[in-house]
Amino acid sequence: MNETKPPSVAVYPGTFDPITNGHVDIIKRALRMFDRVIIVIAVNTQKTPLFSIEERIDMINQCFSNTNDRIGVDTTTGLIVDFAVENGACAIVRGLRAVSDFDYEFQLALMNRKLERRVETVFLMTGFRWIFISSSIIKDAARHGGDISGVVPAHVRNALAEKFSRG
Ligand code: COA
Repeated sequence: MNETKPPSVAVYPGTFDPITNGHVDIIKRALRMFDRVIIVIAVNTQKTPLFSIEERIDMINQCFSNTNDRIGVDTTTGLIVDFAVENGACAIVRGLRAVSDFDYEFQLALMNRKLERRVETVFLMTGFRWIFISSSIIKDAARHGGDISGVVPAHVRNALAEKFSRG
């Protein structure tokens, strides 16, 4: 039998406002499990992003400029499960930082499963170094002139500095 296994695709959704080293770590680890990972900037109706969609895409692309076609970056204004099915993805990857993430992530995963049973949610434990960071905390530190090197890539640090210097 000459069966060729189709490539396994996962989507990694989030607001990415901006992408952090914690996200980069999750993406690199997801690439060990899936042939292709599509990073999807999705809408969380509770958030008002600092960066435009184009700025966020650009920052994500710069993180992986040396990497290959196994990473994609896209956006959706619809349901993440619909995006997953349309793009042939079998899984949604989410990072879990602390117990405090669990309730929300559990609800999200159950709702996504109810909406679309063909797509599984896969949780990766966020690397220890990134457990206490979030995009909001980093933005807050940057807004007040704090040193955020080490928690975001250099180009993201520069983008934040530029954003806040413009007031
Ligand atoms: N390292 C560091 N920080 C991390 C992290 C990691 N590994 N993983 C998550 N975070 C942080 C993010 O920076 C973010 O911080 P912030 O709240 O300060 O912005 C926070 O954890 C969680 O954000 P994120 O992972 O980006 O999720 P979100 O809650 O912003 O986005 C969506 C959730 C967009 C994925 C979800 O709303 C969605 O799927 N929307 C589309 C519509 C849909 O399908 N809804 C679900 C069915 S109703």
